[in-house]
Amino acid sequence: MMKKIVVLVSGGGTNLQALIDSQKSGIIKNGKITCVISSNPNAYALTRATDNDIDTAVIRRKDFSKFDEYDEALTELLKSKNADLVVLAGFMTILGHKVISAFENKIINIHPALIPSFCGEGFYGLRVHEAALKKGVKISGATAHFVNEECDGGPIIIQKAVEVKYGDTPETLQKRIMEQAEWKILPEAVSLFCEDKIKVIDDIAVISE
Ligand code: GAR
Repeated sequence: MMKKIVVLVSGGGTNLQALIDSQKSGIIKNGKITCVISSNPNAYALTRATDNDIDTAVIRRKDFSKFDEYDEALTELLKSKNADLVVLAGFMTILGHKVISAFENKIINIHPALIPSFCGEGFYGLRVHEAALKKGVKISGATAHFVNEECDGGPIIIQKAVEVKYGDTPETLQKRIMEQAEWKILPEAVSLFCEDKIKVIDDIAVISE
């Protein structure tokens, strides 16, 4: 059965675009993006979705007084869309217990560093690259991983290293990591999931070929 993929976004949506392109070119086997949900009504990612005839929805954290209510509403929204897989593609709101337990090992996040470096609370977007440059690491990269209760701590599915160059700014490093790593490994991880090639054994993701 073709798996229904729901993608959560907050911003520009270049990772969403990579997923759409990979679906079109057949890199993603056995899966279809059926809905894009944004935490921000003005996200350009929503335009990318409608341009490709993909259903959209918006859910904002600030429309709920309690985090629990937000967590419940997001869980119900994902269930109402019959999501088989949830992909966090630049989604900037932390997920709660309800949604994580309802979709255990069914939520994939892309993080713009080699976990466990430069990850966890407060490390998102350009802040990740600022921290990498401040430390002076010579290699960074990206990680596609399952989401569990620990922020950026779930089973690692794929990682790809990218060179850091002298004179890099957070923006130039972000661009290189997106082009060389994120836009490749996120669609690969999604495809592996859709083909049932990822098993989680003792919190380790094992890929079968
Ligand atoms: C990407 O670099 C993604 O890895 C990062 O935000 C950017 C979103 O760009 N995500 C995080 O930092 C999550 N902690 P996009 O909207 O163009 O895909």
